[in-house]
Amino acid sequence: MSDSPSRIYLDNGATSWPKPEAVYEAVDRYQRENGSPFGRGNHDSGAEVQRLVTNCRQRVAKLLGVGNPQRVIFTSNATDSLNLAIHGLIKPGDHVVTTILEHNSVSRPLTFREDHHGLEVTRIEPDDSGLITPDSVRAACRENTRLISIIHASNVTGTIQPIQQIGELVKDLKIPVLVDAAQTAGAIPINFESLPIDMLACAGHKGLLGPLGTGILCLSPEITNSLQPVRQGGTGTQSELASQPENLPARFESGNHNVPGLVGLHAGVGYLLEVGVEQIQLHEQTLKHQLLEGLDSISGVTVHAKSTDVPQLGVLSVTSDLYDPQTLATLLSQEFGVETRAGLHCAPGVHEWLRTKSTGGTVRLSVGPFVTLEQIELTVNAFKTLHQF
Ligand SMILES: Cc1ncc(COP(=O)(O)O)c(C=O)c1O
Repeated sequence: MSDSPSRIYLDNGATSWPKPEAVYEAVDRYQRENGSPFGRGNHDSGAEVQRLVTNCRQRVAKLLGVGNPQRVIFTSNATDSLNLAIHGLIKPGDHVVTTILEHNSVSRPLTFREDHHGLEVTRIEPDDSGLITPDSVRAACRENTRLISIIHASNVTGTIQPIQQIGELVKDLKIPVLVDAAQTAGAIPINFESLPIDMLACAGHKGLLGPLGTGILCLSPEITNSLQPVRQGGTGTQSELASQPENLPARFESGNHNVPGLVGLHAGVGYLLEVGVEQIQLHEQTLKHQLLEGLDSISGVTVHAKSTDVPQLGVLSVTSDLYDPQTLATLLSQEFGVETRAGLHCAPGVHEWLRTKSTGGTVRLSVGPFVTLEQIELTVNAFKTLHQF
């Protein structure tokens, strides 16, 4: 393996890597020295797990600005959080307003309910710059609209949507607003309580730097009673009850927790609180700017949705005149150690909008807190080498 190029991981949009050292240490320590479940054992190691998971909830609440940590629900990934939010709320005959930019984690649960339960869905298109306008969301709302579900930032283009303005414009309609923050949590500052929204879904394993298998759903006080749990079962509490406990977070958290994941998430969020999400955002913006400038100057490479007038994350999508996306991603990895992702990235609507759907999508490059400017330079050089005529 001595000939392989060293690894440049630009697939942080899928899951972040590497994690802070403290994450590895916490998971390893838990697995070797503890191994107890959460809320299910009367022993010292169980009490330690209780403390770690409770602290994890508190840290997530602090980072995302959730007033009461009990309204931070742990799930297994962003998909799980979005399914709980969607299936826990909508009923037959309801109408949902969403966008064509959504990840399949939102659009597939909605399609399932359209196909099987008579749900009506309006999917809004963005304007030319990729933004969903608040007016278009308001105009799509009806008498029977039960949910507005908007992606916070596209996992294909990185474009950040004006959630604050959208929420404010529809506030008087009293329709619950769900935000898919899978790409933004940990990448840009978020204060849930100050956003006019009801539910914020994210992964624990992307920008929050925890292990795979962790997810979060933040709930407003107003939504907690109308949202129904989609799974019932053991919570380790109130075992005498025949039905699911009503109190939070047990109402939505059945079955043993992913404790190795949560102790890792505890450490990942601890790192973010220490370093500051603003610092990470600044670093990722610098990387993205250099990447964009470098790739945009190469003849034969097209950077999609590259507008500098709209807020964007450190995620960008490119196509090549010389290679299809799969071939390009394979060459980048095998020849240069640059790890990206090719295809539709579970968001076919974005590719219809970009007109890249029928040609195999794009190659996505997504930076992370531990990517260096030198790695970006090496990546740009790899693209240059592959596009020399
Ligand atoms: C915007 C968006 N939503 C949802 C998801 C699903 O996340 P998870 O893999 O944690 O289920 C992703 C994953 O890439 C995403 O980018």
